[in-house]
Parts: sequence; structure tokens; C-alpha cells
Amino acid sequence: MGWLVSEENFDKSKIELFGSKFCIGNGNFGYRGTLEEYGKEQLCALTLSEIYDDNGCGWREPVNMPNPFHINLSVGGGNISVLGSNVAKHEQSLDIKHGIHSRNTTFVTGSGSRVSVSSERFASMAAPELIAEKYMLSADSDIDIVMNAGPDMDVWDINGPHFNVIRSESSGGNTDNHFLIETIEKKYQVSMCVSYLVQTGCDYKQDGNQYTIHLTKDDSFLLTTYAVITKGIHCADPFAESRAKCECFAGKGFDQVLKEHEAVIEKRWRSYDIEIEGDPYAQLAVRYSIYLLLIAAPFHTEGIAIPARGLSGQVYKGAMFWDAEIYMLQMFLFEEPEIAKNLVMYRVKHLKEALEKAAEFGYEGAFYPWESQETGKDGCTLYNLTDIFTGRKMRTYFRDKQIHISPDVVFGLYKYMEITGDYSILLQGGTEVILECARFLYSYSYFKKSRNRYELLDVTGADEYHERVNNNAYTNYMAKMALKCAVDTRAYMEKNHKAEWDSIVKKLKFEDDLAHIDEMHRLIYTPAPGKDGVIEQFDGYFKEEDLSVRELYSRRIKENEYLGSLCGLAVNTQILKQADVILMMSLLPDQFTKEEKRANWDYYEKRTEHGSSLSTCIYALLAAEIDEKTYAYDYMMKAATIDLVGNYKLYLGDLYIGGTHPAANGGTWMVTVLGFGGLRVNADGVSFVPDLPDSWNSMSYHFACRGYEADCKLTKTTMTLHLTGQKKSGFLFNIGGKTYELTDDSITVNY
Ligand code: BGC
Repeated sequence: MGWLVSEENFDKSKIELFGSKFCIGNGNFGYRGTLEEYGKEQLCALTLSEIYDDNGCGWREPVNMPNPFHINLSVGGGNISVLGSNVAKHEQSLDIKHGIHSRNTTFVTGSGSRVSVSSERFASMAAPELIAEKYMLSADSDIDIVMNAGPDMDVWDINGPHFNVIRSESSGGNTDNHFLIETIEKKYQVSMCVSYLVQTGCDYKQDGNQYTIHLTKDDSFLLTTYAVITKGIHCADPFAESRAKCECFAGKGFDQVLKEHEAVIEKRWRSYDIEIEGDPYAQLAVRYSIYLLLIAAPFHTEGIAIPARGLSGQVYKGAMFWDAEIYMLQMFLFEEPEIAKNLVMYRVKHLKEALEKAAEFGYEGAFYPWESQETGKDGCTLYNLTDIFTGRKMRTYFRDKQIHISPDVVFGLYKYMEITGDYSILLQGGTEVILECARFLYSYSYFKKSRNRYELLDVTGADEYHERVNNNAYTNYMAKMALKCAVDTRAYMEKNHKAEWDSIVKKLKFEDDLAHIDEMHRLIYTPAPGKDGVIEQFDGYFKEEDLSVRELYSRRIKENEYLGSLCGLAVNTQILKQADVILMMSLLPDQFTKEEKRANWDYYEKRTEHGSSLSTCIYALLAAEIDEKTYAYDYMMKAATIDLVGNYKLYLGDLYIGGTHPAANGGTWMVTVLGFGGLRVNADGVSFVPDLPDSWNSMSYHFACRGYEADCKLTKTTMTLHLTGQKKSGFLFNIGGKTYELTDDSITVNY
């Protein structure tokens, strides 16, 4: 129960949505939830992580590989496919516990025979190079079927093509089953070796990739396919390695490789699962959100983080945004800190590119890219959107003015240390990142003498509809947090690692900046709540036209016109695209009173369009804190079901932005565990303020924190905690104002 996502009947209009909804992956690549008969028009994609390309004709984007599972069926010369044939029954499903995609379809042929096709596929979490499929054909009467199974080399790309096939060998009489591609820009080499193995009692003839099958009603035809993808960035000879591995996996057989994959994903679920009793739909939606983050997580490398659309395709250039630190990181910090470390280290590894970006704009320190890929360089273009009325490029200031990205990166590092208790990251490049981000903020700031304060002028905050504003609250508060982190890092390093600290300061030539950072931390302007408790989103925001989202929508000429940029409808109004002040209050909860949180939630909620999938989860998170349980639940469910129901914008202007939404998925986890579960970790220790939604009888989850691991079960009135890791003493936590120590025995507390 609560592990199956499933849809019955075939509906052509849902092909795009289901491609994302039924996606599988293993961090090394993603594979969209498409059917074997689909081609590039139906957006089939095997999207690689870490391998990006720019062919000079558009954007850099991740490379899609040929589809190893493409199959064409025909009977009597006519194609059998959901796209054209008579479909009697059809079901597509995803077993999220095991990461297995299935389809079951029954076709009625011209002669009235019923032919059934079923398949199961998975991207192995035990062997990250492997994706495998079992495909079965059966019929209710004797019938001749011609089947073509082979990698579909006609790849779907948004800005492709991205590679040339530089070597290709046939194996076992098949063609094109083992090949090496080379990308156009960086000459990355990737090899794919595909093995097709037939098991059947019925008669069939094979000619290359074509099988002529005489199917009887008593026999079925079973094809197992093993596709191994090896990247030259990870091995010396990807071509030889893909062949060797493919032979090995095919030798083991489908059931065995599946069993090995299941053992790994089941183990992961033991950490990640959240069990909810009393609300089956929320149960499924929360698990599904976790699943989508898991399949995109870089288990195997620090070379990459999680792209804004996961591995569900090339949308948003397959780029990493602040989404990773602010929305996705916390789940990994509490469930599998090793993965969280990979995400954080991706930024540490690319400090150099952040320094270069700051220099490009004339600043000092580290200005992290707004959108980055494997190179760590900013992939965000200055003209990022096109006006749908004129077809002209629009100047957007995401790349040059969303300076909050640098404090966001620091926030990730700081959360890593706060939750895991592992400060060693400071000796692995973390200190340099924190100091250089602080230096950038100082260099960007303007010291207003008349008011004796540092200001951040000409910035774009989280709300992208208001570009180039002064003193955006989110930016200024996050900058202060980052500066404090630099000040605290100094204190920690001087106390614990004096020699290393001295050498870092010397290496970075940071001597003079220490005093600047200290002063800016004290004097940076952070807009205070007004008399009514509301914080102004940026200087002059309250003077903008105040209207409802509905009124704003009534002014649109086209439904998908962009509301921001230079002359978008929202620009001179108080309508925001996404949580901004509310996000700041959720991330820095100790800095505001409950009354202030409530006042701001009430004010901004009415004025937020939620035009970004990053918004509703944050309104839910803060609603949970101010005891607005119904709002919290409703907004949480919007985030949790976004990829189940497809309730998202497909276009930003003319830009296609479909795919999965890992930020909303991570946000869902945050609302569930941090919001309803009330888990909080800060300098004072670990505390809980649980408050479950009315429909939930109980919620159970596991978490890791500061070297401890624990299971937590919440009912409406009790919390039971039990340590599950190696450390069995000294775990202190606070609930209802009382502190408890958890040891070997479990503790149940009434709250
Ligand atoms: C949002 C950004 C986000 C990006 C990628 C945009 O629509 O406004 O905040 O980083 O999508 O998810």
C-alpha cells in the first residue's frame, strides 16, 4: 500500500506528463517514463548526469543517449502501437519502493486476435551503469509478429545533436548494439553496450535486430535487454568497460541484477521512508516526492548536484540552481549525510568558477553561478527568455543580480555542519567558500554613510518578478547569515585549527577583509517588521500597485505570457512569483516571532502567484509553524502532488519547462518532517514541536543527526523515539520545554 503510482487507459494528451511522472533513474542517468514504441516525438530520453554539451546552436544541456529499449511491432505489415492501434487495455505503473517501471497493454489486431505486451524496467542502484528491461509478448491465438528491437539512434534533444558515434561494433549478429559516442564541444566519450537476450518456447527467426516470431496462445516471447553506459570521465576505456560489464550483467540474468538493485533501494528506503497512517493519498504523494529526489541524487560523485528538473530531461539546461541548497539538501542531511556531502562538495569544488564570475562582473570574492553544470561555470544567459508577442529576446537579470546565490551556498554548508555535526568540511575547502562568499558580499555592498549601514542595491531576490530592486529582504537577511557564518568560522578555526586558519588567510590574502566582514555583519541593513509586523520585500515594494492575482490574470493577453522582466504585468505590482519574505522566515526561523511570521504569511500569501514550483511548500512550512494546519496541509499537498497530477506551468513565455520538480519534492519532505514533525536542530540542540494534520493518525520516520540515528513515531499526542545507530547514549532532545536523554531504550513522551 502506498507504493504504487499507476494509470489506466491510454491518453495521447498525457504522453508528456507521464514521461516525467513515470521516470526512473539512479543518479547516473534518468530514463523518462515512455513506452517501447515511442520515439523522439514522444520525448523519449535517457538523460545523462555529468555529461553536457554545447554544439554551438543553442544552449549547453545534458546529453541524451540513444534509447536502448525501442521496439517496433507489426502484424501483417501494420504497426502495433498505442499511438495507432486498437488498444483494449492499458496500464502504466511505477513501483516506487523498487524503482520499477511497468506497462501492460492488450491490443486487438485487424484479424481480431489479442496481443499483449508487458514490460518491466529499472535503473540499477547497485550498478549505476546499468539499466535493464524485461519485455514480454503473448497472444490469445496463433499469430506472426515482426519485432524490431534496437537502440533508437534518433535522439530527442532540445538543442542537439550533441554527439557523433565514433566507434560501433555489432555483437551476436546485431548492429549498433555497442558504440562509443563523442560529444561535440568537450569531446566527452560515453559508451553504450546493449545486450538483447531472447527466452521463449515459440518459433522465431532473428536477422540482426529483427525478430520474426510465430506466437502461439500457449507460449510467450520474452526479451531481456541490458544496457550499460560508461563514461570516459570515470574510466580509461569506456568502450571496453561497457562491453565487459554488459556481458557480466547479462550473464547474471535479469532476476539477479534486479535482486541486487532491490537490495540497495530497499536499504535506502529504510532511511528515507515516511509512513503516514490515516491518509493514503498523502502517504503516496510524500513517498513519491522522496522517490523523485532519490533517483536524481548523485550517489556516486561530487562532480554534480541535482538539476532543477532532476534527470527527467534537458529542461533548464540540466542545470543546478539554488534549488539544491535551499530546497533539496535538508532531506539528504537528515537521511543520508554522505549524499548531502556530495551536494555541498560540488560547490566547494567549483569555487574557482565562482571567483571568476565575480571578477567578470567587477567584484571580489565568490559569486556563484545562477545555473551551473559540470564545469561549474554560469550557464545562465543574459537574454534568458523570449517575448511571446514580438519573438524578441528579453533581458533578464537572473545571472547578474540574483546575488543571493552566494549566501545560499553558504547556507548549505552551514546546514551541513549544523545537522551532521561534521566540521571537517571546513578543512576541505569549506572555509575558503565561506570567506570568499563573504568577501563578495562586501565587495557588492554599498555603505550608506548617512545611515551608517551596508545596503545591497540593484539585486533580484527570490521573487523573480521584481528584478533590480534595492535591499531585497531575502537577500539582505541571507547575506547577514552568510557574514555571521564567516565570523563564526573564524572563531572556530582560530580556536581549533589555528595553523590551517592562518595559512588560509594568507593564501586568500584575507587579512584586511576580516575587519570588513566583521563590520558588515554588524552593520548590514535588514529591514525590520513594520508596526503591523510586515517586512517590506524591498525598498518601495509597498508603493507598488496592490491587486489580487485574479485581477492581474484578467489583464493577460495570453495565458503563458511572462509576468516579469522589463514590462511584465507583475513588475509594478505587489504580486510575487514565489515565496520571498516567507522563505527567509522559514530558513531563519529563530529570528522572528510567531506573530511576525503570522503577519507576513497573511500579507504575502494573498499576493503570491506561486508561479514557481518552489513556492507552495514554503507557504506550507511557515503555515505549520503558525498553527495554520489546514493551509499547511493544502499547500503541502500542492507541492507533494505536483508531479503526480501535472499541476505546473509547461511554458515560461515560449520556453518549455516541463519535467519533474525536485525542489518541490524536497520542500514536501521539509514540510512533513520539519513542519508537521516539528524537528528542529540548532545551536541549542535538537527539539520537536510536532503537530500532525487532522487526517493523519500517525507518522513514522527515521533521521540522522550529529552522529546519531533514530526512528521517530508520532501520534496526535505522543512521540516515541528509538536510537537505531551505533551511538547509544547522550542524545539530548527537547519537547514541550523539557529536555530528555535518549539511550538504548525507547522513550515515549506526551506532547
Ligand atoms: C524559479 C527559480 C528557480 C528556477 C529553477 C524558476 O522558475 O523562479 O527560483 O531556481 O525556476 O527551478
